[in-house]
Amino acid sequence: MKILNLKLLNFRNYEKLELEFNPGKNLIIGQNGMGKTNIVEAIYCLAFTKSFRGSKEEVVIRQNCDLARVEGTILDTYESKYRIILKRNEKKVKINNTNINRLTDYLSKINIVLFTSEDLKLIKDTPNTRRKLINIELSQFSNDYLKVLTLYNKVLKQRNSYLKTLYTNGNASQDYLQILTEQLVELGLRIHKYREEFIAKINQYIEKHYFKIAGIHGLTLLYKSDYNNLGKEELLQVYKKEKNRDIILGTTSTGIHRDDYEFSLEGNNLKDYGSEGEQKNAIISLKLGEIDIFKNEKEIEPILILDDLFSELDEEKINNILTFIHDDIQTFITTTELNKVSVSLKKDSRIFEVENGTVTERGNQ
Ligand SMILES: Nc1ncnc2c1ncn2[C@@H]1O[C@H](COP(=O)(O)OP(=O)(O)OP(=O)(O)O)[C@@H](O)[C@H]1O
Ligand SMILES: [Mg+2]
Repeated sequence: MKILNLKLLNFRNYEKLELEFNPGKNLIIGQNGMGKTNIVEAIYCLAFTKSFRGSKEEVVIRQNCDLARVEGTILDTYESKYRIILKRNEKKVKINNTNINRLTDYLSKINIVLFTSEDLKLIKDTPNTRRKLINIELSQFSNDYLKVLTLYNKVLKQRNSYLKTLYTNGNASQDYLQILTEQLVELGLRIHKYREEFIAKINQYIEKHYFKIAGIHGLTLLYKSDYNNLGKEELLQVYKKEKNRDIILGTTSTGIHRDDYEFSLEGNNLKDYGSEGEQKNAIISLKLGEIDIFKNEKEIEPILILDDLFSELDEEKINNILTFIHDDIQTFITTTELNKVSVSLKKDSRIFEVENGTVTERGNQ
């Protein structure tokens, strides 16, 4: 899968921009704050209809403008034109000039593996960040996953709100809580299965990558979940036991919304025992594993975005990573430090120089 071109209108610091990309490697260079990440963010937005940065979706709309537009041609088996229009309270998406009314019918079509310097902090970060990452990956593999997860979150919200009702009104019916709990467990079990299978797949690949990078065997990703090894009836018992506590706290203390993922190296939790370098190598292995899963399980070459990795990793490591990535994978690399980029990478790449929202292409010799 390749993105052949990108057209922006009022996206971040770009009033108007039109770029054509290399189906191989693309280097985006420029000083801090010039708009490098904004370009790869636009590609990401075209796939996910939202950014990987920030919580408010509207921040990508250029200041003092009403809407932002991102368009791009994606080459998969065929060429297709994708377009999204983002307004403050509205999103519109089109494929080949046809409006797509349900967002879930649009998502999962453009496949991206994103690797940012932020990801390198993933092991130290909160469970929520790790869940988000796996959710994004899984939703690209299965459209159904996203639908089930959305439903789960809806039921969870209803359950939490009903727990609060029960706290203030002791006479409120307990039957409704039971119905919500059953729904939650059923949806939760479906999510659990997706996650369990996905982690098993990841584990087929990350150990070999870690060995290539660090010369050590034994990296695994563990799936920590309240639902591990439990069936519906057993889970309902757990919720029953916790019911009074849940009512007092006004929140659901058990469920797949509490899931977490943990890297283990030779049996040791990398969060507690791993060095900075080991943690980074584990994340790199995970990212390389993601590409493998796309290739081997879906026969798709995802678009790879490496945003600002040079600020966190040394040149040797990055050039190493790049040698592991097959030439067929279209890659976008942003950096302030062109001097760190190897001669061969420069030679293989189309180079875009960004200065305050203006992009010029420069020769790669
Ligand atoms: N909604 C917006 N409207 C206009 N400009 C914006 C908007 N959001 C961000 N910007 C501008 O975009 C610029 C940041 O762009 P970007 O994050 O792409 O920088 P960068 O080149 O990746 O920098 P760094 O090397 O520091 O990562 C900032 O100057 C910021 O003011
Ligand atoms: Mg940046």
